[in-house]
Amino acid sequence: MNFTGSNILSVEQFDLDSIQQIFATADRMQPYARRQKRTKVLDGAILGNLFFEASTRTRVSFGTAFNLLGGEVRETTGMESSALAKGESLYDTARVLSSYSDVIAMRHPKSGSVAEFAQGSRVPVINGGDGANEHPTQALLDLYTIKKELAYHGHLIDGMHICMMGDLKYGRTVHSLSRLLALYKNIRFTLISPQELAMPDSVLAVLDQAGHRVTITDQVSGSSDADIVYQTRIQQERFTTPQEADQYRGKFRLNSEIYTKHYKPNTVIMHPLPRDSRAEANELDNDLNQHPNLAIFRQADNGVLIRMALFALTLGVAEQVEKYDCEVNWYSDKRNSY
Ligand code: CP
Repeated sequence: MNFTGSNILSVEQFDLDSIQQIFATADRMQPYARRQKRTKVLDGAILGNLFFEASTRTRVSFGTAFNLLGGEVRETTGMESSALAKGESLYDTARVLSSYSDVIAMRHPKSGSVAEFAQGSRVPVINGGDGANEHPTQALLDLYTIKKELAYHGHLIDGMHICMMGDLKYGRTVHSLSRLLALYKNIRFTLISPQELAMPDSVLAVLDQAGHRVTITDQVSGSSDADIVYQTRIQQERFTTPQEADQYRGKFRLNSEIYTKHYKPNTVIMHPLPRDSRAEANELDNDLNQHPNLAIFRQADNGVLIRMALFALTLGVAEQVEKYDCEVNWYSDKRNSY
């Protein structure tokens, strides 16, 4: 794949070679994320960071990634504070804001909206999540995390067993991750959800066509040889009313007791975050916070590396990053803490 100037809208754009290219570039971003050195390769470049739906990690890590490459960030957050609330089209917004930016990252609550926006943009657009549809950069960071966590245990992605649990209907991260995993060989998927929140048929068809084994269930038992358990939150914002979401909250929890009972000792625990920590939900309990197999914060950290890699690749500077290195003058504990 030629990344330079390309939009990143869907995981369907990627094959194993392009994923490898992104991961190799992400590996080279580690010293910058750890503040061991910095680079000015994107000095003068501007990221338009447009988040029309709530976000903590994706929005801030896109901005952080761009800053770490030496660029500057201009942001808008929330629909109500943008001219979209006055009826402006996505096309007009894209046409205008792409004049102010060199690349745009965008999240929007409507499926397909980021692709629609990209049609009006004169710079590359990266999808930070469009409704219940896709979250391609999350899927890349999830896959990067899975690869690293499994390698630590001496395993490969090919042949692994992953359990995905919770809201698989509206959880866009599991849609995008499943489509990426479909590129690998002989994966076993156990999909645990209430029937009403099952994985969409369109995703199941991709897994089926690629020859992977899929078990669909509403029971947690039967996952004792899983390599990965990937928890998700009930996506309240996609339901018509919060009360509709209430009936599913807290149905599939993971805590220390359940983990020990149902999973093998090395099962890696993942969650795209945010986790719903309210007592009635609590799908991933704090009592696992110190567990060595809890990968959720390593996942979030990897988001910066992946997003740095995507900026470097789409702006055509991936091979020049180290050429613009400079020193870090301030104290940082991050240098030794990973
Ligand atoms: N994982 C994720 O998309 O988190 P945010 O909603 O905080 O961006």
